[in-house]
Amino acid sequence: MKRINLLNVGRILLLLTAIVMLFLIVDLLIPPEKVVAQSEDGSLPQIDTTSNVYCLSCHAEAYNPVQLPSGEILYIQVELADFADSTHDRNQIGCVQCHKDISGFPHPIKTARTLHEYQLQRDTACVECHEVQANQTKDSIHGFLLSQGEINAPTCSNCHDPHAQPYMEELTKTEHSEVCANCHNGIFQEYANSVHGEAMIKDDNQDVPGCIDCHGVHTMEDTSTAEFRNSSVYLCAGCHTNASIMDKYGLSTQVLDTYVADFHGTTVTLFEITEPGQTTNKAVCYDCHGIHNILSVNDPNKGLSVKQNMLVACQSCHPDATTNFPDTWLSHYIPDKDNYPIVYYVTLFYQILIPGVLGGMAIFVVSDAYRRLRMKFIKPKPVEVPVEGEEVIKHD
Ligand code: HEC
Ligand code: HEC
Ligand code: HEC
Ligand code: HEC
Ligand code: HEC
Ligand code: HEC
Ligand code: HEC
Ligand code: HEC
Ligand code: HEC
Repeated sequence: MKRINLLNVGRILLLLTAIVMLFLIVDLLIPPEKVVAQSEDGSLPQIDTTSNVYCLSCHAEAYNPVQLPSGEILYIQVELADFADSTHDRNQIGCVQCHKDISGFPHPIKTARTLHEYQLQRDTACVECHEVQANQTKDSIHGFLLSQGEINAPTCSNCHDPHAQPYMEELTKTEHSEVCANCHNGIFQEYANSVHGEAMIKDDNQDVPGCIDCHGVHTMEDTSTAEFRNSSVYLCAGCHTNASIMDKYGLSTQVLDTYVADFHGTTVTLFEITEPGQTTNKAVCYDCHGIHNILSVNDPNKGLSVKQNMLVACQSCHPDATTNFPDTWLSHYIPDKDNYPIVYYVTLFYQILIPGVLGGMAIFVVSDAYRRLRMKFIKPKPVEVPVEGEEVIKHD
């Protein structure tokens, strides 16, 4: 049911008069073919009811909003200044290129019962010009949720106001993440206080990850799968092994090497290769560091360098761990003379001892085998030992 109250009808009449006036003025200001189609015989000019000027003659005004059957309110005012700034207006995309069903007033009757349903219907317009993103979104976790009838999952226009959308590159990294905050505010708040989020929001740091650097956008995946968990290690390592980024912050780039060398990492790596669909219970980066709440390891209260905090992290999987348990964790440093010297020298000792012992063994075994083989195949000439009392016959 279309719901226009009497007040609206009155205002429409008033406005129609205003429009005619407006067109007369516009007609004087801009070339007639833009808004007004001159009829063949030169009679009264006709209004081009598909022009932006026509649509905006009503929609730039603070009209009474429409109430949808669900009780939700559809505000129908389009902010002129925002629209003029949008990529769409800058690229001469007219109202009716997206609102294909509307070509004048009154408008066709709406069928949507809820705001979400309304947006979904309208968003079908996007595919015509942005096919790639539309197809990707269908396969994403948000697209999947939409197809399952999840009414809170985002449609295109929840993330891109079609009437105000600037170029994405004109938005800051923080603004990109704020789009997600509209629905994931709890996570955004956690993230805002993390080492990554703080650097982004306070310092406009471009090196730290915003939401979409870890999740992607139109190809966003379900995070609860085994594949996501197992491969998350490489997500973090993508930046944390990159010296051109990490050197600026004096952070170790050996996090992945040391992690993979460690008892936890080896297993995850093997899982990743042999059974990508199987969840590993071994620690991945975020089990120890957290996800949206990652802190500097030197944070005086919660940082992992504080042994007590490290212990708490270990205890989530090693419930019996006691105070010196974290000593088994060699941090992300490959042991050397300065970091973990004992481990370094013990390793070095073994590096010399083991090849020494094994090498010695090998030399012994080979030479022994050689000797035996020689004995077996190269039969020694019988040595003619003169027997006592026998004459030695000389052949000369
Ligand atoms: C005479 C004033 C007037 C003009 C001109 C006008 N509209 Fe509207 N429009 C309204 C009113 C009133 C409503 C709310 C009632 C309704 O939905 O019909 C509305 C609702 C809408 C809606 C939301 C509801 C829906 O049907 O989706 C859209 C979209 C819309 N108009 C687009 C346009 C476009 C595009 C143009 C230009 C081709 C246009 N309008 C021209 C008055 C106008
Ligand atoms: C790039 C495509 C696009 C263009 C261009 C566009 N619209 Fe829309 N419009 C949409 C979509 C999608 C929705 C529904 C989603 C939403 O509510 O934001 C919508 C919703 C509306 C509504 C309902 C109220 C609202 O904001 O949700 C009105 C009224 C409207 N448009 C009028 C206009 C007018 C007038 C113009 C031209 C000045 C215009 N639109 C240009 C895509 C577009
Ligand atoms: C969950 C929020 C979200 C949804 C839903 C979403 N987008 Fe995006 N979109 C973004 C963000 C954030 C970017 C910026 C990506 C970047 O900078 O790498 C973007 C970028 C874009 C771009 C610029 C080119 C590009 O790919 O970077 C287009 C075009 C686009 N989106 C269209 C769409 C369309 C069409 C839909 C619906 C089918 C849609 N988006 C759904 C958040 C969203
Ligand atoms: C009639 C064609 C058309 C339709 C329909 C359309 N757009 Fe666009 N859109 C454009 C053009 C043209 C640009 C400017 C692209 C450029 O210059 O690369 C653009 C730009 C964008 C951008 C910014 C891209 C960037 O590179 O930063 C986003 C986001 C976007 N559109 C989203 C949408 C959404 C969401 C819808 C549906 C509600 C929609 N568009 C419908 C033509 C369209
Ligand atoms: C219009 C609301 C809305 C917006 C905007 C939105 N989301 Fe979502 N998103 C949801 C809903 C609803 C779910 C499903 C319920 C849940 O897991 O919270 C979801 C699910 C997700 C999931 C999957 C959760 C899982 O269980 O694996 C991720 C990841 C996600 N969103 C990230 C983002 C990111 C990143 C952005 C910004 C680019 C964003 N969302 C923007 C509503 C939204
Ligand atoms: C450093 C990478 C990273 C950043 C940045 C990040 N996430 Fe996540 N996010 C993850 C990982 C990893 C998981 C999987 C956690 C799990 O399975 O327990 C996840 C899970 C999620 C989930 C689903 C699980 C839940 O707790 O509901 C949502 C929704 C989500 N992230 C949204 C966001 C939003 C919104 C932002 C930006 C404010 C963001 N993420 C920033 C890595 C990141
Ligand atoms: C078993 C728990 C655990 C796992 C798994 C783990 N870390 Fe750590 N990480 C720590 C602890 C504890 C510290 C603090 C080290 C210290 O000071 O001894 C740390 C320190 C760091 C630091 C700071 C390094 C510096 O130079 O100060 C970074 C960055 C880091 N980890 C990233 C990662 C990444 C990326 C992964 C996954 C590839 C990962 N961590 C896996 C426990 C872990
Ligand atoms: C887009 C690149 C990027 C990604 C992806 C990324 N980080 Fe970071 N991370 C950084 C940068 C840059 C810093 C330094 C920020 C600062 O100090 O201002 C940092 C800081 C950290 C720190 C604090 C180190 C310290 O003690 O100061 C930890 C711990 C950390 N990241 C862990 C992770 C984990 C775990 C993941 C994956 C879930 C991850 N990071 C994903 C770029 C990234
Ligand atoms: C997400 C869970 C998880 C977290 C967090 C975790 N571990 Fe483990 N860890 C495991 C699993 C699973 C094994 C393999 C146990 C087995 O094979 O019996 C393991 C094995 C080990 C081993 C090999 C000896 C053994 O008990 O089998 C050590 C040492 C170890 N972890 C130390 C640590 C330290 C130190 C921390 C904290 C900095 C930590 N772990 C955090 C899950 C975790």
